[in-house]
Amino acid sequence: MNALPFFQNIKNALTAGGTGGLTWHLHAALSRQRWESTKARIETHLFKGLKLKARLAQHSAGELKLILIGASAGWMMSTPWLESFTEIEIYDIDPLTPVLFRLNHGRALKQKGIHVRFHITDAIDQLDRILSKHPDSLIWFDNVLGQHRIRLKNSDLASTQLKILQRRLKGRFWGSVHDLYSGPVQRVPDSPVDVVLELARIEGSDQDSARVHITGDENRPIDHEETSLGQARQSFLQKLGATPNGGAWLDHETAKVFPPGTALTWTGWDFKRDYCHCLELGWTASSADTS
Ligand SMILES: C[S@@+](CC[C@H](N)C(=O)[O-])C[C@H]1O[C@@H](n2cnc3c(N)ncnc32)[C@H](O)[C@@H]1O
Repeated sequence: MNALPFFQNIKNALTAGGTGGLTWHLHAALSRQRWESTKARIETHLFKGLKLKARLAQHSAGELKLILIGASAGWMMSTPWLESFTEIEIYDIDPLTPVLFRLNHGRALKQKGIHVRFHITDAIDQLDRILSKHPDSLIWFDNVLGQHRIRLKNSDLASTQLKILQRRLKGRFWGSVHDLYSGPVQRVPDSPVDVVLELARIEGSDQDSARVHITGDENRPIDHEETSLGQARQSFLQKLGATPNGGAWLDHETAKVFPPGTALTWTGWDFKRDYCHCLELGWTASSADTS
């Protein structure tokens, strides 16, 4: 199903407002090897979501349905995770999505008899309608929320819309991987990024002074370490290879996407050899708190 006008489809097939399209597909196809470790981390997190959902006993076995938003060709998506579902509704504005997604994942899904339907539509704009159409499905935002400010070309509007997203998703089990920040890095050539931080925001504010609770990093669990969002960000970006004079990092306006208390994972993604993204991953079933 394609709900967008003809010329909009042409534009989205080329760049999707700077968030996807042909430019993204070419870059992704050529970057597969460099992105492998980040893709593996995302896969681990995806399965974590299923365990969490099973613990909450929110579905009966054999009846797991998925709404996948911003799927593109699923370059970073795990086929084994997709195979956990009986039905998948895929939403993207890029009209190339159905063909390319099928190339990457279609065969395996078909063999398992999984029903996949594609919808070419703006899923953030149409979210309420999508949610009511699929009331029992789990929702995964697949590296799309951090692109919202880029596509809108208006960071204030994007920030406002992203902050109220949790209210629109109230009562649903949902998760997301999205860009928090991105910028230039200086690292030993060809040393892949391999850092992870586990944390939770204590307060709803996205100000630098907002308190966060660090629960662990790659090498050790940490008990009750509390710091500020600004401090956590600064030290994490340094671990990714940001340098004080390395240029400004872009804030993707996603710091308040999840409700306070959500268990979050930060990790790095070597988007280019010298340009890294700080990704945030999380799952939540909690009611919205937009304080
Ligand atoms: C960075 S790419 C995500 C890539 C994808 N998850 C993958 O692994 O290949 C962002 C995707 O989100 C899509 N997109 C951006 N805004 C959207 C919106 N409002 N609704 C649906 N899709 C959107 C773009 O077309 C693009 O395919």
